[in-house]
Order: sequence, then structure tokens, then C-alpha cells
Amino acid sequence: MTSVKNETASAVRLADYRPPEYLIDTISLTIALDPTETRVTAEMAIRRNNGTPRNAPLRLDGDELSLQSVRIDGKRLSGDAYHATPDLLTITAPPEGAFTLTVETLVDPTANTQLMGLYRSSGNYCTQCEAEGFRRITYFLDRPDVLAVYTTRIEAKKDDAPILLANGNLTDSGDLPDGRHYAVWNDPFPKPSYLFAMVAGSLGVVEDEFTTQSGRKVDLKIYVEPGKEPRCAYAMDALKRSMTWDEEAFGREYDLDIFMIVAVSDFNMGAMENKGLNVFNDRYILADPQTATDQDYANIEAVIAHEYFHNWTGNRITCRDWFQLCLKEGLTVFRDQEFSSDQRSRAVKRISDVRLLKSHQFAEDAGPLAHPVRPNTYKEINNFYTATVYEKGAELIRMLKTLLGPEGFRAGMDLYFELHDGEAVTVEDFLAAFADATGTDLSQFMLWYEQAGTPALAVTSAFDATAEKLTLTFEQSCPPTPGQPVKKPMHIPVRFGLVGPDGQDLSYGAVAGATVTGDTIHVVDERHRVTFSGVKAPPVPSLLRGFSAPVKLVGGLTTGEFGFLAGHDSDPFNRWQAIQNLAMGLLTETTAAAHAGKPVPSDDSFLDAMGAIASDTGLDPAFRALALQLPGETDIARDIGEDVDPDAIATARNALRSAIGTALGDIFRSLYDTLADSGPYSPDADAAGRRALRNVALDYLLAAGGEAAEARARDHYFGADNMTDRLAAMTSLVHAAAPAAREALTDFHDRFAGDPLVIDKWFAVQAAAPFAGTLSKVEELTTHTAFSWSNPNRVRSLIGVFATGNPTQFNRADGAGFEFIANAVLKLDRSNPQVAARLLSAFRSWRALEPERRERAEAALRQVAATTPLSADVQDIVSRSLD
Ligand code: TRP
Ligand code: ZN
Repeated sequence: MTSVKNETASAVRLADYRPPEYLIDTISLTIALDPTETRVTAEMAIRRNNGTPRNAPLRLDGDELSLQSVRIDGKRLSGDAYHATPDLLTITAPPEGAFTLTVETLVDPTANTQLMGLYRSSGNYCTQCEAEGFRRITYFLDRPDVLAVYTTRIEAKKDDAPILLANGNLTDSGDLPDGRHYAVWNDPFPKPSYLFAMVAGSLGVVEDEFTTQSGRKVDLKIYVEPGKEPRCAYAMDALKRSMTWDEEAFGREYDLDIFMIVAVSDFNMGAMENKGLNVFNDRYILADPQTATDQDYANIEAVIAHEYFHNWTGNRITCRDWFQLCLKEGLTVFRDQEFSSDQRSRAVKRISDVRLLKSHQFAEDAGPLAHPVRPNTYKEINNFYTATVYEKGAELIRMLKTLLGPEGFRAGMDLYFELHDGEAVTVEDFLAAFADATGTDLSQFMLWYEQAGTPALAVTSAFDATAEKLTLTFEQSCPPTPGQPVKKPMHIPVRFGLVGPDGQDLSYGAVAGATVTGDTIHVVDERHRVTFSGVKAPPVPSLLRGFSAPVKLVGGLTTGEFGFLAGHDSDPFNRWQAIQNLAMGLLTETTAAAHAGKPVPSDDSFLDAMGAIASDTGLDPAFRALALQLPGETDIARDIGEDVDPDAIATARNALRSAIGTALGDIFRSLYDTLADSGPYSPDADAAGRRALRNVALDYLLAAGGEAAEARARDHYFGADNMTDRLAAMTSLVHAAAPAAREALTDFHDRFAGDPLVIDKWFAVQAAAPFAGTLSKVEELTTHTAFSWSNPNRVRSLIGVFATGNPTQFNRADGAGFEFIANAVLKLDRSNPQVAARLLSAFRSWRALEPERRERAEAALRQVAATTPLSADVQDIVSRSLD
């Protein structure tokens, strides 16, 4: 059992920010590794910051530390000169001038189940310090605005830990008595403590090198569990492509002589950008065609890029405080999205990103956990690594680029790097660089960082054929969110085109009302009108092209007009969006029918539109695969917004899926046959797109039912030569409750037993099965030998997928799904509060449920709230959820 932080932890407020009273310029760490008694000696060069009174007490953060000794300038302090608890070391009256503080602590990495600080994974030692994990290693000013130069000496038994790694460059290594050895690493770049890392153990390595644009050679190393080296090739390739791209797209070159990545099996999040020593969840490193899907490959590429890009956006320029988290995360997500767009298909990447944004961030924004991209208060910072900070944060950068144009955006980025390299800064500093570089007033834009909630943008259009005038009227509003009842109007960039009868964008003459620059209408007022003159034919306005702002666009077009855009818009994103709108309209209508127990009506014009897309060989297969996928059950629930009946949604959606499968059976069979792969597997975007479309076709055929479809899916499963096809076939069989599902599940288990990352897929497919028996199956699987409550990947694939990927079963009318998750949260909270709190956020949409389910969800939340002790993490989520 880990220590439980103060239950009534008080809130931290942005308004209370004060610069640190002391600064630490250098820290020299000696870490003598031992499974249960690791001795950490930290020698810190400390001085008073400007404005700090003489002899002001020095308070260093700790967390579960056991202090062994304290020295100032080499002299041991007497007991009254300091005060120590496991989470705070106070030096009562430090010297006036600069001094050296040496602190010795003991930590127990084996007992560290939170996976924050120094812990063990598969027998190796590793660290995770963001956000506040360094204080679990030694007492320190554990805040991102204290930048120090780190020297790290690691000592360990040579047999246990032949590999010793830390940030920066290796400066010394050698043998010690008693079969021990040491290595010393120095990182010349001053950095905050959250970027510290060390790793030690028995690891295999894959090596390569990269020459930067200025001709410097950089050694690249990826460390993995011995034997897994062959699965690192794609990650290494993605790393080199990321390094090239950052030079070309942002002019950013790597700065150390070595860049290392370590893959670990026990990790709370995706990966971590520690300076020169990224630590990854191994699911974002390891891939080969037999074990990784196309989506896994795409994720690996994106996460490798993301962590690498942090070297400039996060590390060289870091955050002043944790309220500024989006400064590094939103910006770095934007950068990795752009990288993937350039490496793959821009349209397909944009559609996938917006799907993710809507399903995660819009859902967060619509519930009790809504918060601004830059929050102004938090109780537990770990709970703010959210879709809002990351994904909406990236959308804000994208809007900034739309507002300033590519050149203005690049000029702002260049100025930001030039002004703030080596500093810890704020969102204001960031925006000021863009304002200064381009002479733009960004004060209204700043509201995007401060106001939570998804703005609704209602639009009406009126065309006067005789006057050749089109008038668009926009009205923006933003629903209340916790602590923010009323919002100010924001600057919403609406990229647009006026699509003429032939599908081409119409030209227009004078513009009156709202400002229009290039292809963008700038909606800045609550109610804003724009009139285009010289419009020679009746247009269909295509608005919010490329999803140019994270808003909910309401109204404006008829079903017929959406149908037209679905077939003709030159903007592929809006073609996709138009189809989604048609599907959503139909699905909300049929859900109401299903809820009322009426037969679910069908719609031939929609089926025709789907057929047209499925068979349009002029379209990228990956785009067709996305366009053919109906909005998810949770997306439909969000659109309905209140009194949600998840069973009715599933009934309506399944009815439409089977109607599509039946009506377009010939098209899908022919797609399945013509898209068959020739040649060996390649994870590239084109090949992946063809597989995606073929697997969508197969899934629809199964949804329509019949023995022939089942036989086809069974063959697809057993004939597959790659994980993408095998997993797609198994998933479709399981969801269709086909007789061969059991056979596939058994085969899959036996084929991949002993490969935890693949068994995660096996857990996930079963956890997502939309059937009444699933909950007891999931309970049973928690006792499977491959399952472990202490491994976050296992917990996420079985328990997490049940909670967030199975709307009918998590939201069971009898409340058993809620109860199961509440109990899982309480169990996990005793070992890993971060993972527990994240799981609990599955309840975020509970208030939108119909009354019976709502009552049961609330009861489960109240049960969690009433439990003592609770971690600060879970306490924070449960109290906000019930507020
Ligand atoms: N900064 C990491 C990223 O690239 C996020 C992260 C990794 C993290 N591990 C963590 C955040 C642990 C909090 C706790 O996005
Ligand atoms: Zn990040």
C-alpha cells in the first residue's frame, strides 16, 4: 500500500504563482541501486533568487522519502537546523550566499507500484518524473521553473544491470568492488526535474546514427527486452524521419551527441520525453507484421515523433508551471499531427484526428470534468493530462496557423525559439512571440486558452438569386462549464467554400460584414453576418473546412445539401463530415424509434450515398474506409445529449449497419475480392488503407449476416498473414456473435500466448463485445494468468476497454457495469492512483444518461467517494464528477 496524499488536498491556483525563492544551478546525483534500498546522494549548488529575504527557509519537496543525512558545504547539519518529513525537507536558515546542499535518501524501487519516481519493470530499474515524480527520488525544488545541469552517477551490480543510462552524454564508467560497476552521465542543458531519467538493467540494443543538417553525427539507440530487437526497426525508422522532418518543417536540429529510447512494459502513459533518454511504453516501440496492426504502426510513428519533437517544444523551452502544460503538449501534438500528415495522407490523418477530438475532448468538455486548455486551478496535476490539454491544445495551434498563415506561423515559431531557448515560459510568452512577429492582436484568441466548453456555432444562410447575394449569419454560444457560467465570444476561423452546382467552388465579388481573408471567415462577435456579392449560381456553403475550429457547427444545410457536399465538396474533410452528418441525423431519429419500441426505419438515399462512396475508385481507399464508418455509439449519445438510452442507440446503429451490409452486399463482396493483398505486408499508408477498406467491407458483410459471410470471415482470420487482418476478422466475428468467434479466440490465444502486447488485443476484443455475458467474462479474465492488476497496459485493455469501449455493457441498466468499474477503481487506487483516476473518468458522461442508469451511476460514484482512504487523484476526479 502506497502513501495516500492528504485527502482534502487544497487546490493550486495559477493566480498564486510566485517565482522560486531559491535556485538550483547544478545537481550531482549518485544512485547506488538496490532492489529495496537504493541510496540516492544529491549534491546541489543552491543560491537565493533575486528578491528572497536573507535566511528565508528553504523548502524542498519530497514524497515517501527516508532521509539519511543532510550537509551544507560538507558539514553535517544538526537536528535543529532542518526539519524532515517523507514529503518535505526544510532547511530552517540557509546561508546567505551560494552553498552546496548534500542530501542522502533511501528509496525502495520494488515497493513502488505507482510507477512514479524510481521503480522496477521486468527486473529493470527505470524512472518516471513528470509531473512530480522526482521528489520520490530525492528532496528537490520539484517545479518546472527550476532549471539545473544534471550529472548522474549510477552504481549497480554488473550482473543485474549491465546497462546504466541517464540523460546526456556518458563521461565515465568502470568497475567497482564486489561485482559492481558505475557509469557517469552529464547533461549540459539545464532542465527541470521532470525531465530527469535513469534506466538500468539487462537490455538489448538496436543502434543507428543520424547526421544533422549542420553535419553533426548523432548516435541513436533503442533499448528493449533482450530478444525483442528485431521488433524495433520501424521505431528506429520513424525516429530518423522525425529528426529530418523537424529540421525541414521547423528548422530544429537535435542538440546532444546521443539520443536514446528505452522501451518498458510497465508504464502509466504512452511515453516520456526525458532529455536525450526517452522512456516508452513498449506498445509504442515494438512492431512486426505478425503482432502489430496498421494502427499500431501509425501510433508508433506518431508517439516517436511526439517525444522527439518535445526536445524543442518542452525541453529546450519548458513550462513555467504546470498550468502551462498545453504550452508543450498542445504544441507538440500539433507538430506530431503535421508530421504524420506529411508522411501519410493529410486528409485521412485530419479525419482520424477530428474523430478522436470529438470522441474524447468534446465528451470531456460536455461533462463535469470540463476545464480550459490552460486550467487556472488544480488539485492533482496528474489528472490534467487530458484530451483538452493535448488534443484541443493542438487545435488552438492549428487555428493560430490558420489566422497567421504558414509564413506568419513560422515567423512566430522562430521568434519563440529565439527569445525563449533555455527558459521556462507561459502561454502568454508563446502568443506574444506570434503577436510580435506578425503584428497581430491575439488578445481575443487568448480566450481559447481560458474558456472551457465546446462553442456552438449556429449558421443560417440566405441566397438572393436576383441580387446574386449570399448572406451567412453566425451565432456563437458556449455552454456553462464548472466555474464558468458565462463566456465571452471567441475568434472562430471558419474556412469555407461556396460550392456551385458543378461541384466547383464559386467565385464571388465584394464581401460585407465579417472579415474574410483568403478562404477564412473570421467570426469574432456573438452574432456575425457576412454577405458575398456577385455569387452567380445558388451555392451550397461548405463551412468549417478541415475542421478549422473546435466548435459544434449547427444548422445551415438540408439533408439534400449534405448529400451534395458528400458527393462533391473539394474539401475531403467536409465530404467526410457531410456523410457523418447524414448518418447522425438518421441515427438519432432511429434511436428515438428504438427507444419507443418502434421499428427502426431505413433511408434509401443514405444507402445510395454510402454505395457511391464505397464504389468510387477515384477516392483513396483509406478515405472510403473512414467515410463508410458510422458515428460511434458514444458519439450518437453525445449528439442526443440527454436521457441517453445506450441500448436504443446500439439497436438503431446495428439496424443501420445490417441495412448497409445487405443493400451494398455486391459492392462489399467485390471490394473484398479486388482489394486482396498481393506481395508481402508493408505498413505504409496506401497498403494500410486498402486493408482498412477491405476489412470494413468484411465487417458490413458480417453485419448483414449469413453463412457465406461467416465463412469468408473465418477464412480471413485463418488465412491472414498479418495482425491487421487477423484482428479485424476476429473482432468482426466476435461482434457478429458468429459461431467461428470462439474458434478464432482460442486460436488467437494459443498462437500469441506469452506475448503480452498481443494478448492485450485478445482481452480488448472480449471486453468490447456488446453482449450481456461480457461483464462476467471480463471478471473471469481478471483471473487469467496473463492478466495483472499491476500492469497498466493489461488493466487498460481489459478493464479500461470495458469501461470506455463497450457502451451497452458498461452502462448496463442494472448498474452492474458501474459497480464493477467502481470496485476496480478502488482496488487499483491502493497500488496505482494515476491509473485508478483515469479509469474513473469513464463516468464523465453519467449525467446525460436516462434516469434509471443515471441513478445507478451516481450510486457507484458515491460508493467511491465514501471510501477512505482515497488517493488525491481519485478524490479529485470523484468530487468533480459529483459536483
Ligand atoms: N509528457 C508525456 C508526453 O509526452 C506524458 C507523460 C508520460 C506523463 N508519462 C507521464 C504525464 C506520467 C504524467 C505522468 O505526453
Ligand atoms: Zn507530450
